[in-house]
Parts: sequence; structure tokens; C-alpha cells
Amino acid sequence: MSQTIAVLDFGSQLTQVIARRIRECQVYSKIYHYSTPAAKLREDGVIGIILSGGPQSVYAKQAPHPDRAIFELGVPMLGICYGVQLMGHFLGGHVAHSKAREYGHGHLSIKKPGALFAGLPKRLRVWNSHGDKLEKLPPGFRPIGVTENSPFAAIEDLKRHFYGIQFHPEVFHTERGVDMIRNFLLGICGAKQDWTTKDFISHSIAEIRTQVGKSRVILGLSGGVDSSVAAALLHKAIGKQLTCVFVDNGLLRKDERRHVVELYAKHFHIDLRVADASKLFLRRLKGVTEPEQKRKIIGRTFVEVFEKSLRAIKGSAEFLGQGTLYPDVIESVSIGNNPASLIKTHHNVGGLPARMKLKLVEPLRQLFKDEVRRVGAALGLPKEVVWRQPFPGPGLGVRVMGDITAEKLEILRNADAVLHEEMMASGYYYKVWQSFCVFLPVRTVGVFGDERTYDYVIAIRVVESTDAMTADWAKLPHELLQKASSRITNEVRGVGRVVFDISSKPPATIEWE
Ligand code: XMP
Repeated sequence: MSQTIAVLDFGSQLTQVIARRIRECQVYSKIYHYSTPAAKLREDGVIGIILSGGPQSVYAKQAPHPDRAIFELGVPMLGICYGVQLMGHFLGGHVAHSKAREYGHGHLSIKKPGALFAGLPKRLRVWNSHGDKLEKLPPGFRPIGVTENSPFAAIEDLKRHFYGIQFHPEVFHTERGVDMIRNFLLGICGAKQDWTTKDFISHSIAEIRTQVGKSRVILGLSGGVDSSVAAALLHKAIGKQLTCVFVDNGLLRKDERRHVVELYAKHFHIDLRVADASKLFLRRLKGVTEPEQKRKIIGRTFVEVFEKSLRAIKGSAEFLGQGTLYPDVIESVSIGNNPASLIKTHHNVGGLPARMKLKLVEPLRQLFKDEVRRVGAALGLPKEVVWRQPFPGPGLGVRVMGDITAEKLEILRNADAVLHEEMMASGYYYKVWQSFCVFLPVRTVGVFGDERTYDYVIAIRVVESTDAMTADWAKLPHELLQKASSRITNEVRGVGRVVFDISSKPPATIEWE
């Protein structure tokens, strides 16, 4: 790759978002450690450098500083937030130390549109998050934009093509931020717009091959978007060196296992091992009613079964493949005690790589969900997989209230399949965040023909959401609900009543547990 934009990472959580915006402009970029020597950047053919933000003060003892020689490379540079302060600090300006952080919206008035603000309106809302502030410009620079709090909110050095902005152009709250980044990439660095999903795929295939060599990779396939795309990508890269393991925990939806086998083994010719542990799971779950305990049993048993099937694979593997995405990376690093961050860990095989001396290969680690979907589609995964709704790791285990039995699971599976069909047929499946049935171990009276019945209740849960942190119940057309309800009571034995959940999150969660 000859044309690269280097993003030097000074520890901001937004570094990956910068990289993502660059990809949106169809330009190739690479994230580098902040201390990467200038010589390395030159060797890589870097045509522009972005200095990311970072949580530190340039004066802090541990402050991440770049190789001073990067300022001599003769390539355009854009400093964002902490990046501007570095420019000030290294190029002869002055940065005022501040203990308080300035957070939130500001208004940028553009004084000199120039190359960075070409085509943009004179006034824009921008998003600030910084502590220190540039107080005196380095020689050669001039201000090109001001905000309420900073006369140097945007600066440029026309000769060296150095630009600095105090606010964050990469976040949505900054109006036209992507255009600023695009101006830098195309107008200032002269980057080519030739980086597409296809290029990402061929690039990561090359990377996977280099990383893995002749070794074998094992991947736990759940059928969800992330692991499916990871499997398809790894398979394209290393073919038969990939073995996928699918654990049937007995808590799957109707025909789910068959679909997985058909798609991955029959269609993609992936070496797929199915570990049928449904009996084991159900035995261990017998009589357990407490939600947290059910989860623990399911999680522990999953790891045990998965580990056992790995051991059974001949010519033991050196690598464990995982469909980790960038948001999972941030979650597990930074938001330690946020309950949301615990979710992913339930089915996480946690200590397993170390225990089994496996190295990780995570080809989607830098991507966001929508990018992963594009990669999946480009690899030929069907729409039902690429746009599949989220499904919890513990499966129907969190959708059967009270104790779990094979009979209850069967009822739930059948009801859920009916709802799924109706959601698909009406097109609503792809319009909502999740749609599913919940089994309620309550029996109520009904009539069926001339007979009095005493059957279970199925709840329909359909929610809209963008990130599962909050959710609202979906206002589905009554005709759709009516059809699903009458089909469920008519076609699914054991169900006498269907109810629709009209709770939002919070206070209710999406799953009933
Ligand atoms: P709640 O029920 O907490 O769910 O509102 C939020 C989102 O997370 C999904 N979920 C899980 N996903 N393992 C997962 O991979 C789990 O243990 C788990 N529990 C809940 C849920 O379906 C919703 O999308």
C-alpha cells in the first residue's frame, strides 16, 4: 500500500472513530502507536498524518509524545484536540495548562475558509472536549476559526500544510465534521478515494495469512453477525485451516442449527463441527428458576463444551478466531462497571485463550457494526445473516420464565417461528431492533371449539432501539399483531393466550429473563 494516512494514536477513545471517518471517505488509513518513528512512517509511504486526541495534558509526566522528526517529514498534518496542543508544544507555541475540561457544544466561526473549511458555512456547531488550551500560536501559524472560548479553535500553517483544530470533527455532534476530514484528506493530502470494502477484505486476508501462517484457527460460530462475518473472512483467507465450532445448547430457535449447517458447511464448505450438548444443558438447568443462576450455568457449560470440542480437534490449533468488533474493545477496556459491558462477557470464552495457549486472531477488531455488515454482504453472506437481529448468547434460556424444560422450549420455539414468519412476511423484521416471543409459565382458561382449555401464555416482545441501552416497544400495525396472535393460538399446541409487551427500557429490559 503506497498511499497511507497515518493516524497517530495518543490514547483517545475517538481514534477509531477518526479511522472510521477516513474509511467513509474511501481513503486508506492506518492507526500507529504515538511513538512510531518518523522513519517508519516515511517507509510506509505516509502522505498525511492525523494526530489524535488524548486524555492527557502535554505537560503530564506520562504524556504521550511523538517522535519530534514527524514534523520534518514534509507531509501535511492535522492535529485534533490534544493533537493541536502537541503542535503548539513542539513547534514553539504555548499551551496553557488547565485542570478543568471544557466539554460540550460550541460555535465555530470560520474566519478563513481555506483548504480545510472549503465549501462549509461560516458558522458551525462543534463539539469540544479538552483540558489544556493553545494560548500562543507557533511561528508560521495563523488562526482560521474561533469559538466562544478559543481564539485559536482552528489554525493553519499554509507553508507546511499543518492544520490544528481544538474541537472533535470526528463526532456526530460536530456539524460537517466529516467534510473537514475529507477536505484534509483529498484537498490537502491529495489522497485517492480508492479504499472500499473490497480493499478492506483483500487487505485483511493478507494480514490474516501473515499472522496465521500454516497454523490452524478455531472459531466459535454462534450464527450471529459478528462471528459469521469473521468465519467467512477467515475462511476466505485460510480455507481448510479454519475449523468452526457450533455449540448446540438446546436453547436455539427452531431450525437454527440446520440453517447454520446448511450455510457454513454445505454452502461455504467450511469445516464445521457441531457440538450437540443440548441434553447436558437441559440436565444442568433442570429445576433452576433464578435468572442469574440460569445464566451462570449456561455460560459455564458453554465454555466447558467449547473447550472440550477444541481439544477433540486433531492437529491442535494455535489460534482462536473471534468476531470482536471495535465497540466490544472499548467496552471491555474502559467501562468496567457498566452493566452493559457485562453482557458480552457472558459468552465470552475469557481465560480460555491463555489456558489453551491460543493466540487471538480478530480480523474485525477495528470495525463498527455497520461496516461489518458491509463486509459480510461483500463476502456473500445472505441478508438474513447480515441483517439478523441480535440474539442473546444464553438463547431461549432467557426467554423461558421459571424453570426450563424441553416441553416449554418446544412451545416457545414454535410460537417464535410463527412470529418470525409474520415479521419477515410484513417486512417489519428488518425495521425493528428485535422481535421475539417469551414463554410465561402461567396457565389461563380459554375455549377451543367446544372445549375448555387451560394453557400457557406467550408474550410478544418487539422493540425499537439503536444500541439496546434504551428501547421502546414497537408500534406494530394491529393487523400484524392480530395475525401473529391468531396463528400462534391456532398452530402452537399448549398456548391459549398471547399478550403484547408494551414496556419500554428503562425501566423494563429488552429480554424478560
Ligand atoms: P437487555 O435485556 O439487558 O438486553 O435490555 C440488551 C441487549 O442485549 C441482549 N442480551 C444479550 N446478548 N448475551 C448476549 O450476547 C447475553 O447474555 C445477553 N443478554 C441480553 C439482548 O437481546 C438485547 O439485544
